Amino acid sequence: MGRLIDALLAFSRLGRADLRKTAVNLGDLVASAIGELKSDAAGRRVDWEIGPLPDVHADPALLRQVLLNLISNALKYTRRRSCTRIEIAGQETAEEVVCHVRDNGVGFDRRFAHKLFRVFQRLHSATDYEGTGIGLANVRCIIQRHGGRVWAEGTVNEGATFHFSLPKAKGTSDDPS
Ligand SMILES: Nc1ncnc2c1ncn2[C@@H]1O[C@H](COP(=O)(O)OP(=O)(O)O)[C@@H](O)[C@H]1O
Ligand SMILES: [Mg+2]
Repeated sequence: MGRLIDALLAFSRLGRADLRKTAVNLGDLVASAIGELKSDAAGRRVDWEIGPLPDVHADPALLRQVLLNLISNALKYTRRRSCTRIEIAGQETAEEVVCHVRDNGVGFDRRFAHKLFRVFQRLHSATDYEGTGIGLANVRCIIQRHGGRVWAEGTVNEGATFHFSLPKAKGTSDDPS
């Protein structure tokens, strides 16, 4: 219960915290998030496929939370695979950067993809996969505050892909927008 309340408080703080946007090296941020989640992957074979990751204009502390949530989910929902594959990459267009975290885990029914980003919506039982159901709500809140979008794709027993977009900075990298 304590964990749940802490998670809810953190979620409500997130909606109010100031955004401190700056130029962020997404590749470095991904590497550090993976390092922090090393214990989640202990004793397992995990093939990381880290594609090209462009620089983005974002709040590094909040974007770190996004990556930690998505990567920890990817590790959690692949736990029963003999070989886990997690791919993280990004593409750049004129207006935005779109990144994805893809795994070969248990996946989910694509009809419920939009629900996953709501607080407490979980498609897997807490006895099989522990969790509070707040992680993806945090992800959506952070990305929307940056003016971006989040969406998910999945297939039962084949894996899941979570995408997020971030608008490009207008003008210079120290643009306060
Ligand atoms: N990588 C994934 N593969 C399959 N299902 C996922 C994945 N990530 C999230 N989900 C589904 O979305 C739900 C919400 O995710 P999240 O908000 O992070 O909560 P939690 O991790 O606490 O369950 C999860 O309970 C699970 O059903
Ligand atoms: Mg989670």
